[in-house]
Amino acid sequence: MLPTAHNAAKEGEIAKTVLMAGDPLRAKFIAENYLQDIHCYNSVRGMLGYTGLYKGKRISVQGHGMGMPSLGIYTYELYNFYNVENIIRVGSAGAIKEDVKLMDIVFAMGASTDSNYANQYQLKGTFSPTATYHLLEKAVAVAKEKNHKYHVGNVLTSDIFYGDSVSPLDWSKMGVLAVEMEAAALYMNAARANKNALCILTISDEVHSGRQLSSHDRQVSFTTMMEIALELAIE
Ligand code: ADE
Repeated sequence: MLPTAHNAAKEGEIAKTVLMAGDPLRAKFIAENYLQDIHCYNSVRGMLGYTGLYKGKRISVQGHGMGMPSLGIYTYELYNFYNVENIIRVGSAGAIKEDVKLMDIVFAMGASTDSNYANQYQLKGTFSPTATYHLLEKAVAVAKEKNHKYHVGNVLTSDIFYGDSVSPLDWSKMGVLAVEMEAAALYMNAARANKNALCILTISDEVHSGRQLSSHDRQVSFTTMMEIALELAIE
């Protein structure tokens, strides 16, 4: 079974907790700047993955690509073939609720979606993908400690970035905070495998105003979010 078609890691090369970012170069940045004794376990399709030590604890960081199908493949394999227990996604999102602003952090307690990913489970109703409570609780505690502005709530995981007729802003009437493209698949794969997951997001653009972060602010805010995720990873 191992390695897989998408991941060259051999058994035992990946830690129980994996931090994941859409962009594999973000995973490389985390590994090179925060971890000691790093070992690159994957470069298939450029989806870099590393294992190393953070404050003495073994963790892994890996890219997951864009959208639910891509994240779905990597996280399914991590949970089901590599015995990973916890996946923490660090990503960016567009604010759709007016009081959510650039650089704010959003902890995705729930992930609504316009995709049909859940159809595979053959349930007669609508499954609600949610974060693992103990990871969420700890993440909020770390954000409070760091005095960082954050929101906890529902996000929209959308299949559509360049939409023709629908707008993610429609979801703000249901109190949905922000739009991104992966959390719902992460939470569903975690639920199905009986594992743990949390998605932490930094607001990189405001869909409600059209404003966007500069590349400098993008880097600064990503660093804050990453440091929260790393603290969670060593719990
Ligand atoms: N990720 C960051 N901003 C986004 C947006 N506006 N829509 C979807 N995903 C995003």
